[in-house]
Amino acid sequence: MIQNKTNFGRKLSTMVAAVMLASVAAMSLVCCSEKTHKYRIGISQCSDDSWRQKQNSEFRFMSYINDSVEVDIKSAKDNNAQQAAQIDSLVDEGIDLLVVCPNQLDGVTKAIERAYDKGIPVIFFDRTTNSNKYTAFIGCDNYRIGFDLGTYIANQLNGSGRVVEIRGLDNSSPAKGRHEGFVDALKNYPDVKIVASEGADWEQTGAEKAMEKILAKTTDFDYVYAHNDRMAYAAYLTMRRHNLSGKVKFVGVDGLLGKGGGVEMVNEGILDASYLNPTGGQEVVDLAMKILTGKDFNRSNSLSTTIITKNNAELTLMTDLNAEQQRNMLERLHNQVDKYQRYNSGQELFISLLGVLLVLLIAAVVMMRKSSMAKGKLAQQLTKRNEELNKLNTEVIALTQSRLRFFTNVSHELRTPLTLIVDPVEQLFKDEKLSKHGRNLLVIVRRNANALRRLVDDIMDFRKIQDGNVKLHLCNFSLAEKVRQWVSDFYPTVEKKNVNLEINTDKYTDSDFVGDEEKINRIVFNLVSNAVKFTPAGGTVMVTLSDMPDRKVLISVSDTGKGIPEEDREKIFERFFQTEGTEGGTGIGLAIVKAYAELHGGQVMVSSHEGQGSNFIVVIPREHSGEQLEDMAVESCCYTVDDEDTGADNNYTAIPADEDAGVKHSLVQKVIGDDNKPTLLIADDNKEIRDYMKALLSDDYVIIEAADGNEALKMARTFHPDLVISDVMMPGIDGLELCAELKRNSSTSQTPVIIVSAKALDEQKIEGYENGADSYITKPFSSKLLRTRIENLLSSRRKLKDSIMGMQDVAEDPVGMSSSDQEFVERLRLIIQHNMGYSEFGVEAIGREMGLSRVQLYRKVKAVMGISVVDLLRKSRLQRAKSQLEHTDKGIAEIAYEVGFSSPSYFTKCFKDEYGMQPSDIRSGR
Ligand code: FRU
Repeated sequence: MIQNKTNFGRKLSTMVAAVMLASVAAMSLVCCSEKTHKYRIGISQCSDDSWRQKQNSEFRFMSYINDSVEVDIKSAKDNNAQQAAQIDSLVDEGIDLLVVCPNQLDGVTKAIERAYDKGIPVIFFDRTTNSNKYTAFIGCDNYRIGFDLGTYIANQLNGSGRVVEIRGLDNSSPAKGRHEGFVDALKNYPDVKIVASEGADWEQTGAEKAMEKILAKTTDFDYVYAHNDRMAYAAYLTMRRHNLSGKVKFVGVDGLLGKGGGVEMVNEGILDASYLNPTGGQEVVDLAMKILTGKDFNRSNSLSTTIITKNNAELTLMTDLNAEQQRNMLERLHNQVDKYQRYNSGQELFISLLGVLLVLLIAAVVMMRKSSMAKGKLAQQLTKRNEELNKLNTEVIALTQSRLRFFTNVSHELRTPLTLIVDPVEQLFKDEKLSKHGRNLLVIVRRNANALRRLVDDIMDFRKIQDGNVKLHLCNFSLAEKVRQWVSDFYPTVEKKNVNLEINTDKYTDSDFVGDEEKINRIVFNLVSNAVKFTPAGGTVMVTLSDMPDRKVLISVSDTGKGIPEEDREKIFERFFQTEGTEGGTGIGLAIVKAYAELHGGQVMVSSHEGQGSNFIVVIPREHSGEQLEDMAVESCCYTVDDEDTGADNNYTAIPADEDAGVKHSLVQKVIGDDNKPTLLIADDNKEIRDYMKALLSDDYVIIEAADGNEALKMARTFHPDLVISDVMMPGIDGLELCAELKRNSSTSQTPVIIVSAKALDEQKIEGYENGADSYITKPFSSKLLRTRIENLLSSRRKLKDSIMGMQDVAEDPVGMSSSDQEFVERLRLIIQHNMGYSEFGVEAIGREMGLSRVQLYRKVKAVMGISVVDLLRKSRLQRAKSQLEHTDKGIAEIAYEVGFSSPSYFTKCFKDEYGMQPSDIRSGR
């Protein structure tokens, strides 16, 4: 999880870094694409003809080559009102300077003055107004143009001729200047007459009309002087239409280069001459920039002009051709640039949007990061807190477990001395010679020993409950009878305390009760014991059994004690809980009551009135179904034998234990020499236990002993005892390992092992059986139980031995025998049965047949059947002989030879030793 968090943190950091990088890049792009400050120049054109168009392209060209200039061109198409409106709108849009070519002298004056008054510099170009509110003027000297052309025509006419004039728009400054200059020039040539003068509007159509008017008046003239080339051409066309063009010459103004321009017309002879009126776009922008950037400038700026005639027209055209191509190329380039810029500005917009998006994304990521960090911090705190709680919980569990372990261990330790108290006491009670005083003292000892045993049992049971290892051992018994018996055990106690103890079973039908007798006993005992304890002298404890619906039984134990405080009532069934003033108890008695009641599918309740007493009620079903009932018979049997039969045998003679090797040797001799008594090996590190067992068993068995597991193993391998009794907890290898080792080795595998241990939990017993134990007895043990188990196990071995000696097959599943041992025994039986008739058939021959050496055979046979091979063969022969004597009429000698004895007298001796009678006694007794 921590790893995941780190990864997330790393990923987030990488993401933030990437986003920031991208943002910086985007911002850089945006920053880099930002233009330097541009001056915005508004250009107001009065007309939109070829001369104006050329001029406009020059304006744009200037803006292309100058990063700081931006032009906004508007054309009014010779309309004053429109031009005035356009000027206003340019001003409103925000221009830094106004370049204006006023249509007429007074038509747009006010609009221009408004702009000027707002502080916007105003440049007049080509035309002016009458107003003085302008910043600068740039253009030709129109008076000069008129004057020069008047002089030129007069000269061409050699001072004598007739001239007509087509004027530009009346009341416009060029028309005025060009007319006045022309008139003044001709004043110098009195024979050159202006025979007609008509006004037009600078355009072709207007000029044609003017020409028609003139022709209507006169066709006798030599020159047409028009104020611009367009109008001169219109005059030419008109004259041509009237077939009059051949004798008249035409002169115009503008001298435009390019196709259809004035220079070309001069070159082609359409016009006699033109006069250069420079469009001057570059000069206009240069002047504007001077004004805008605060540089020095002239208020009046004249553009240089010249007359164009057939003499210079061609050269001018050629010069211009290259320049025109360059202009066109530049125009095309600029269009490309424009296109790119439009595209670029689209990209800029996109990048700007992306930038904004990235900024938002960064903000979102930062917020997420912050929130994630806050969450992470919170999660860390919670994890830490959780870990602390878990640790605390683990510590509490460990503490509880260690407390329970401590109690359990103490209980184990108590069980051994308890064995040495309870069992001898029970045996002493049977001594009829015991004095009355001695018996009274023994009663006290027994009562206290029993109290101690119950305490130990409570603790052990509670551990079992804690571990969830408690199972019901069901049996069918009379509940009323048992409860009466259990309650009566308290009579001596209540008598002394002067407490009335009553039992009432009137409302109980005493039939069919199935339960775990031991656990029901514990429930009743704990409840009655508590009730008696808390009932003062003169009080009453009442035990009642009642029928309940649904085949349930109610066991009620009430007292007249001080009662239980209300706040404690729910807790009294919790482990270790003690109400005030109950010091001295373990606090687990009622917890066991509850657990056992619930294990029976029942429940326990309490009602109490402080100062009046308490009433504990247990309700349990009368029976338990299925699997458990099947176990009933077995379990009830076990329970009776295990714990209740305390019958003792006082007639023992103890053989003192001694660790000395010499003594051991004497014991070995004794073991080998005494075939009549089985040999028991007792392995226990507690000398008192060994002594006690020896005292119990030495009358019937030869006892050898070991104080630890290793020693026990060695002795078992050396002496091949008939049975081993071992404690579990011992120095060296413990009892379980000893058992497992004995069972693993073929020479000892058939030696029965009884584990006697204070470890009373089911799983501990299971562990014992898993290690090969043939029986498991818990301390404190009953001597009777121990004897019974020893006898049963030895008897089952004996039966096995007999089965080999006799004719019958080995039982299918002899007690505790492995399948390989069963196979061994069956082979041995067949070999002996088939060959015993040969007197020379002995141990060597059996070993050969079995594929074992003499020693191996001895060990194996001794281990499996507890008998030597020689004895086994002899007993087998005697057994068959006995059978022959009983069931045939063969002679004794014949039988003796038939079963393999080499002499009848030796047969008779052996028979007598084995059966305590002569072979002839069988015959005579038939
Ligand atoms: C262009 C034009 C030119 C002329 C000038 C006078 O609009 O008509 O032909 O020379 O204006 O302002």
